[in-house]
Amino acid sequence: MIQEPEFVSVSDVAMELDSATQEQFVRAAERLGIERLYPEQERAILHSLQGRDALVVLPTGYGKSACYQIPSMIMPKPVVVVSPLLALLEDQTRSLEKRGVPVVRVDGTVRGKARREAMARIAEGGPLLVMTTPETLGGEELRLALMETGISLFAVDEAHCASEWGHDFRPAYLRLHEMIGRYGRPPVLALTATATASVRDDLIRILALEDPLIIAASPHRSNLCFEVIECGSTARLRALTRLILRLRRPGIIYCSTTKEVDAVHGALRAMGIPAHRYHGGMKGSDRKAEQELFMKRGRRLVMVATSAFGLGIDKPDIRYVVHFQTPSSLEQYVQEAGRAGRDGRQSHCILLHHFDDRDIHEFLQSQSRVRPQQLFQLVKALVAYVEEGRFPDVIDLAASAQLAQRVTSAVLAVLESASLVEITTEKYVRPVIPPEELLDRARRLTEQFQRLRKLDTERLDAMEAYASQEVCRAQMLREYFGVGAGSECGACDMCRQAGERPGSFFEPLRKKKARKKAGKKARKKAGKKARAKKGSARGGRRRGARGRGKPAAAGATAKPAAADTTAKPESPTPS
Ligand SMILES: Nc1ncnc2c1ncn2[C@@H]1O[C@H](COP(=O)(O)OP(=O)(O)OP(=O)(O)O)[C@@H](O)[C@H]1O
Ligand SMILES: [Mg+2]
Ligand SMILES: [Zn+2]
Repeated sequence: MIQEPEFVSVSDVAMELDSATQEQFVRAAERLGIERLYPEQERAILHSLQGRDALVVLPTGYGKSACYQIPSMIMPKPVVVVSPLLALLEDQTRSLEKRGVPVVRVDGTVRGKARREAMARIAEGGPLLVMTTPETLGGEELRLALMETGISLFAVDEAHCASEWGHDFRPAYLRLHEMIGRYGRPPVLALTATATASVRDDLIRILALEDPLIIAASPHRSNLCFEVIECGSTARLRALTRLILRLRRPGIIYCSTTKEVDAVHGALRAMGIPAHRYHGGMKGSDRKAEQELFMKRGRRLVMVATSAFGLGIDKPDIRYVVHFQTPSSLEQYVQEAGRAGRDGRQSHCILLHHFDDRDIHEFLQSQSRVRPQQLFQLVKALVAYVEEGRFPDVIDLAASAQLAQRVTSAVLAVLESASLVEITTEKYVRPVIPPEELLDRARRLTEQFQRLRKLDTERLDAMEAYASQEVCRAQMLREYFGVGAGSECGACDMCRQAGERPGSFFEPLRKKKARKKAGKKARKKAGKKARAKKGSARGGRRRGARGRGKPAAAGATAKPAAADTTAKPESPTPS
């Protein structure tokens, strides 16, 4: 078993600092409600405070944000953080404001008075966290404000977006090192949850990190029990419902498509399981309401969702993450599965896998990825316009590039994000750089997208290898993410030599039994009271094992594994 890293107390870390900073450091951690730090956090923070570059690769939920949040309250000038997603920026800013951390958010959605106030606050300088996007950072307004004050530390969150090997490459990230250079090259802290060796190398090159300290931790946590269950389309729902009836809640079920989410959600509801759902096809307000309900403490709910669900999901007590279909990459899988068990208690990460799962991803990728040829075609058409001294609108440009308007808009979004073109307020497409450079830059971008398409295939291969190879799942994940295989985890299905599920696991559930099991869970709370009154020996002991997290006494219950989070990992297989 891999040992969890030892925590270091904040006061011990403070001793490493000069006396003037010690108190500030302790107060900064206190504001964030942090009493102890992971050794990786300690190293990243101390290194940044010393003004040196670092690349931090820590699993999701590990506390990467603290690595720049704490310095932002100590360093003399603002700490700038770029993040790719508005919702992430918004969430983090809100929670920091509540904690009284000096923070300002500037992105495309902050306008008018709020924007002027934010810029004025930045221009004041002093210890401050400035949260922004790469696009806004490239703009003149923020540049002027930051030029006045300077930057103490430049943090790049979700840094894998800067790598063409990253799973969600964003062209705007490619210009970051140029922007960092404008501010006198402050120390850079790049953070990401999952980066293979090639992504790391690429990040160091693209962000031009200088002799960075690389801080990486295993993407696998020892309280997570990984498992893969082979099952085809018809058996899948049956296997899922068996698991869901058996596993302790709250839990998340990830599906590849919105249609699957609706189907699974409907099936679970019909069985009386308190299921909720979340996907991009729902109304924003409905999604929000479902998410809020799920996030409430103490609710024992099941969330059925697409990968759209996850942003800012910082719920510590998620007991399982089941993937109803295989995701398109191990990067995505680890990110989503890693939402389980953030409280350090035993949790299950189960993948329902079938070789056909790959087809749906290949189809979705063919729809969503920009085709390199289309990108180049469009830029050529645009250059032709510009050479005639005109700017086209989207409709004209689509016609002369011989592309559908939908495709044209998608390609333009990529070009905009790469800061190659802009759409004027009158809806004309205008290159931001001289036309002779435009073709060359487009060619390079095209090559990047070509590589991305190849990578998509390699990722699907890696995902399949994870599902089908008979080695410790944790070792495989560690190796893929370049932290060394290490020893066997002792908790995954391979280590437990769990073997295949019996045929009965995939057979239709008898309705009566299903209802009975679902009802039993739903009545748990009421049952607790009743059992306590009756002094039922079985009920009493089960309650002890669950409620206080103590190991169940021998013979207390016939099947303690899924209920008792401190017990030795066991398969959640229902009988
Ligand atoms: N040392 C610590 N002790 C206790 N809680 C911590 C510590 N560090 C961070 N946290 C908490 O852990 C939670 C997750 O932190 P954070 O959002 O920074 O994770 P992350 O590594 O950025 O994850 P992701 O990859 O999902 O963005 C937050 O609620 C944070 O307050
Ligand atoms: Mg984060
Ligand atoms: Zn293992």
